[in-house]
Amino acid sequence: MRRCFKCKEKAQVYLPQHRLAMCKDHYIEWFEGRVEKTIKEFKMFSKLDKVLVAVSGGKDSLSLWQSLVKLGYDADGFYINLGIGEYSQQSFILATEFSKKLGKTLYTISLKDEIMPIPDIKKYDNRPACSVCGTLKRYYMNKFAKDNGYRIIATGHNLDDESAVLFSNTLNWSIDYLKRQYPVLPEEDGFIKKVKPLCKISEKESAMYAVLSGIEYIEEECPFSEGATSIDYKIFLSNLEEKSPGTKLRFYSEFLRKMYPILKQTEEKPTLNSCKICGEPTTGEICSVCNLKQKLKSKVEV
Ligand code: AMP
Ligand code: FES
Ligand code: ZN
Ligand code: ZN
Repeated sequence: MRRCFKCKEKAQVYLPQHRLAMCKDHYIEWFEGRVEKTIKEFKMFSKLDKVLVAVSGGKDSLSLWQSLVKLGYDADGFYINLGIGEYSQQSFILATEFSKKLGKTLYTISLKDEIMPIPDIKKYDNRPACSVCGTLKRYYMNKFAKDNGYRIIATGHNLDDESAVLFSNTLNWSIDYLKRQYPVLPEEDGFIKKVKPLCKISEKESAMYAVLSGIEYIEEECPFSEGATSIDYKIFLSNLEEKSPGTKLRFYSEFLRKMYPILKQTEEKPTLNSCKICGEPTTGEICSVCNLKQKLKSKVEV
């Protein structure tokens, strides 16, 4: 029987990549400590900042929100209702209930009011739903945070997400993406600061935190994520991790330590303009969301 490395009680969690066994309470403490360490390591924000946590109703964003509040950070939530049937209804209820439990504000917007629900957009736009959805989420997170006096937005991207993206960008030698793959994107040219405090925490670790803390989260994945190549990369990396614990963390951390600083030196910042329609930053004249709105409008009117 494994025992907690701190209190020697029976362990409930064993993390092979860190060679640590922990009881429930010490695991929760360890998890929150790791979040705080990451925030400090990458100078994400301080206790004086107002942070907006992008909350999807999943284990990562809810665990992140709870950890920040318990650690004493000033963190409110922001939920975008994507209008994806049962999946969105459930995640909305869970996110709302959770905000009440935390005693924190959850701001909500609906794509139905802003533009169109994802399944309808899918009917008119040939791109994969997830890529359009990603663009919309980034746009509304940025715009909402700015319009409501938040200078930092935190997302629940975890180590599995980040290492799968890193793997994909490396396989394709997507240098321009690699140059920007950092858990902190600074505030600049109309973009607010974006941070990923769970970047060194695996999906399993955040699921265990959620379960052991009694957080109710949506277990289903978005129905449109089925078949995404990122899932294949996640499975591949998890197989490697199984054989050799610590692989994901090493891959990601060593990229940040050794490769990112070299790539960053060659980064050329694109010139950004304000979108002529909404004022949000864009490399062209009209941003991708206003472009999409116009395209959808013309198709619906036909
Ligand atoms: P995903 O792209 O679904 O893996 O989500 C990554 C992160 O984006 C989550 O951890 C959240 O922080 C944020 N996010 C995803 N979906 C939503 C949503 N509907 N509303 C607000 N934030 C979201
Ligand atoms: Fe947006 Fe899947 S299409 S979460
Ligand atoms: Zn213990
Ligand atoms: Zn625009």
